Amino acid sequence: MQIIGLPAHENIGNIVQKIDITLKWDKNCAIMYKISRLKGSDNVGYCLVRLTSDDYPEFRRTYSKLVYSIYDKTSMLYFLENKITRQALEKEMRTRSKFKADLESEDREMYFFKRDEETIGFVELSFHKGKCDIVEFFVFERYRGYGTTMWEKTLEVARKRKPSRIELWTPYIGAQIFWSKMGFQIIYINGVKCYRLKMRYS
Ligand SMILES: CC(C)(COP(=O)(O)OP(=O)(O)OC[C@H]1O[C@@H](n2cnc3c(N)ncnc32)[C@H](O)[C@@H]1OP(=O)(O)O)[C@@H](O)C(=O)NCCC(=O)NCCS
Repeated sequence: MQIIGLPAHENIGNIVQKIDITLKWDKNCAIMYKISRLKGSDNVGYCLVRLTSDDYPEFRRTYSKLVYSIYDKTSMLYFLENKITRQALEKEMRTRSKFKADLESEDREMYFFKRDEETIGFVELSFHKGKCDIVEFFVFERYRGYGTTMWEKTLEVARKRKPSRIELWTPYIGAQIFWSKMGFQIIYINGVKCYRLKMRYS
């Protein structure tokens, strides 16, 4: 008997993604006729861990690994992203007291995105009048599927507060492409281009 197919796990970069293989039997040979890669949904070992007030040093370290997705990933200008990000963060980095105040606010939730014990991303949400805003959202290693997995985990935590919609604003083209791929629609709030996902609950 011969089985034609792929191994059950495929190593893509650092991500081991599970592959669902359906076999169809034909005489002595099992022919693989359906392969579906469980991209994003195979997120065992990945989780969001809520920040505490002791996490300020790690919070700062996390920001030192952020590079904004300013351009489409195929753009020749990508090499400028790191420099522009560092300049932007110089002005925006939160002080310890601001960090603590944000953390203590009932409307805010900040999470480290972990793969096993290791932090690989960060997300911050703000809840107000039945709406959830994505204040910050980044992974350290881009274009490897981590953003998609972190988004799935973010949806899980956001849904607990039952917002009617999730919204965000980002001026960065690369990030805009990502959010469109996650199903967000473009909306204009006071003439400013934003992204919105309507939530449904059964
Ligand atoms: C934006 C971000 C979260 C996306 O996460 P990621 O892990 O890089 O994205 P994924 O690998 O999960 O990609 C998901 C899809 O988005 C697309 N995408 C992601 N970044 C892109 C970019 N800069 N340009 C074009 N497409 C992009 C991928 O090609 C992929 O599309 P596909 O499914 O058709 O192949 C991540 O790149 C990041 O942290 N960027 C820096 C921070 C930032 O700019 N945050 C946004 C502000 S809210």
